[in-house]
Amino acid sequence: MFTFVTDFDDKNDYRTMEDNKQERFPIVDESGEVVGSATRGECHDGSRMLHPVVHLHVFNSQNEVYLQKRPEWKDIQPGKWDTSVGGHMDYGETPDEALVREAGEELGITDFQPVRVGQYVFDSRRERELVYVNRTTYNGRVCPSAEELDGGRFWTLDEIRAAIGQDILTPNFESEFQRFFLTPKDEKYRLLTEQIGALVEGETDAVSVMANVAAAIHSEMGFFWTGFYRVIDGELRLGPFQGPVACMHIGYGKGVCGTAWQRRETIVVPDVEAFPGHIACSSLSRSEIVVPVFNSQGDVAAVLDIDSRELGTFDDTDRRWLERICGFCRM
Ligand code: SME
Repeated sequence: MFTFVTDFDDKNDYRTMEDNKQERFPIVDESGEVVGSATRGECHDGSRMLHPVVHLHVFNSQNEVYLQKRPEWKDIQPGKWDTSVGGHMDYGETPDEALVREAGEELGITDFQPVRVGQYVFDSRRERELVYVNRTTYNGRVCPSAEELDGGRFWTLDEIRAAIGQDILTPNFESEFQRFFLTPKDEKYRLLTEQIGALVEGETDAVSVMANVAAAIHSEMGFFWTGFYRVIDGELRLGPFQGPVACMHIGYGKGVCGTAWQRRETIVVPDVEAFPGHIACSSLSRSEIVVPVFNSQGDVAAVLDIDSRELGTFDDTDRRWLERICGFCRM
């Protein structure tokens, strides 16, 4: 899990004028599993209990992104431009429920489809947050809360690039936006491949390696489903994965996975509905890539399957890097 360690005390306090220190937040582990609860005060008093927050980056169809302006009365980062929407998850809330609530309160938007792009741990002297990073494309009206914000507007990516390092944007927005939206895919994969190479070096158990490879790809790239199917007794059987539950058996030549096994090559599917015989484990999956894993005899031993919530996510860059990563799983 990527951890962002700061040398500033707080990013954007999400504090409203009438904050209640007794409000309860969930306490989570790094995977987001709720392990307890604590008050806002306890989370922010230096105890550094990991608590979740949600961020939403609102893009329009011109690929401009909405930034909110923090009012001058805020004691942290006053007057700076910040992530479209950000807030704490309440105890008992899911990340998506928190997003809908926060987006409504801060920007007056309700009809949007969030897409998770990743998550990371934000670590400062005062607190530790598990940040769920989301994006959405939204072309409707934005009504920034007059009480909480000093307005906001859409920025082009070039305007944001020019403002970075100029004391105009909050440091947390700068680092998060660069990492998730300004870093080319190629660079992300380069770092990920380096990380995976170091992680699995010297390991000889295929399942352990696949488990960590799936987890690393999933958390760094923010895909919808990332996992392996292994060839066992003439069929593909579900192996280590991250994401929602999935089908457990796939026949030779069936679906995208069985076809990649049969053809012994990577298959990129820009639109799953256009792939004849695609097996839908979830209706939320819109595009997919399947990469074969070969054993030392050159037989297909497994396939890596990755699903995205959006159409056309995968291209030749994904193919190239994922084939390399699958090379680490060869036993
Ligand atoms: N879509 C795959 C099935 C596996 S799930 O996506 C996890 C296929 O068509 O083979």
